[in-house]
Amino acid sequence: MADKTSNQMWGGRFAAGPDAIMEAINASIGYDKRMAAQDIAGSKAHAAMLAATGIITDSDASAMKEGLDSVLAEIEGGNFAFSAALEDIHMNVEARLKEVIGAPAGRLHTGRSRNDQVATDFKLWVRDQLDAIEGALVALMRALVAQADAGADWVMPGFTHLQVAQPVTWGHHMMAYVEMFGRDLSRIRDARARMNECPLGSAALAGTSFPIDRDMTAQALGFDRPTANSLDAVSDRDFALEFLGAASICAMHLSRMAEELVIWSSAQFRFVSLSDRFSTGSSIMPQKKNPDAAELIRAKIGRIFGANVALMMVMKGLPLAYSKDMQEDKEQVFDAADNLMLALAAMEGMVRDMSANRDVLEAAAATGFSTATDLADWLVRVLGMPFRDAHHVTGTLVALAERQGCDLPDLTLEDMQGVHGAITQDVFDVLGVHNSVASRVSYGGTAPENVRAQVARWQEVLG
Ligand code: ARG
Repeated sequence: MADKTSNQMWGGRFAAGPDAIMEAINASIGYDKRMAAQDIAGSKAHAAMLAATGIITDSDASAMKEGLDSVLAEIEGGNFAFSAALEDIHMNVEARLKEVIGAPAGRLHTGRSRNDQVATDFKLWVRDQLDAIEGALVALMRALVAQADAGADWVMPGFTHLQVAQPVTWGHHMMAYVEMFGRDLSRIRDARARMNECPLGSAALAGTSFPIDRDMTAQALGFDRPTANSLDAVSDRDFALEFLGAASICAMHLSRMAEELVIWSSAQFRFVSLSDRFSTGSSIMPQKKNPDAAELIRAKIGRIFGANVALMMVMKGLPLAYSKDMQEDKEQVFDAADNLMLALAAMEGMVRDMSANRDVLEAAAATGFSTATDLADWLVRVLGMPFRDAHHVTGTLVALAERQGCDLPDLTLEDMQGVHGAITQDVFDVLGVHNSVASRVSYGGTAPENVRAQVARWQEVLG
């Protein structure tokens, strides 16, 4: 007979309870209580299926349903005493159900195991997060599209190597991020579609001899179908890894945008003003307005990518089927999900609130000989020069302007003709930044008309 200190759920073969250290390393209730709603939804679906298939009676099933609802109410109301001795959310819920409804609770675990139960709960939790992230991404993209719409034809410097390269439009720059986050959205949707198979009923690893109806539970929980292999189903955490992979790429994108906002909001750039709502002050320097939200978003990739690597390492080399190693999946995913949601919301707020300093952007657009390529293209188009020669002539003119301490449009026609005699007054048309951006009408180029077309396309997609 089991010692009364041994575990009430599995203690039958044990003479004594676990050492305190054993309990501490084994228990996951401290964090997997976050899956209470999913656990109870899974149990309700399982109970209804057990009754529908005649494995348990209808009256047991309805006692279970009512009992599970009241346990959930206790948990949500903060009136539930979680117990580390009961290890995890699955056993905490079941033990409490026993207290609430008595004997019928003992039949709930028929034809299932904690292994398929945890895989199901965790999938449901990750699926909810994917849906929440999808919503947050769409909100951020809408904010970016609104910025692009407002400034479709505002000019700013485009950079390569963080050196001024060619003028671009503000709208085009904003829409570049829309494309990035659009790929994140598609990755999230792909992951959701692929993961949406229900492990419940795979039992411990081999399936069950009870005549369960896995299609019924899958459908009740919003899955497309049951998983096809019980060994794989209880040991698969690809869905968590795909989530972390997609989250890592998204966080990487956020970090790039955050970095630009840090640079752009500096006194040296002044490309944008961040709102007071998304900035902080310094406790010693009264003049400071710091882009802390952007800096923190920039940093979030660290823990999210860390979670991705950590879970990869946990899963690497695990033999089939379930191993307790896999319990280490949840904290990583919970932390990554929380922080990605926070970062997306903060970025959306910053983008919505920020104002582009149009004049500063325009003045900066003309610096750094940003229309040199336009000049070279003009030499090719109008004078029929080979591009390589035009590149050389333009380089000579840039060097001349540099020596004179001026920009290309400030050179005189005589200066130009001194370098190449056939240059005419018309060249000055292409040296203006507005003409430059307006000319870049190739598909995907920075011209305001292209930006407006992309804004319209995304407005349609995003609804
Ligand atoms: N808490 C466990 C986990 O998170 C649940 C599954 C336990 N299964 C077992 N056979 N001990 O993975």
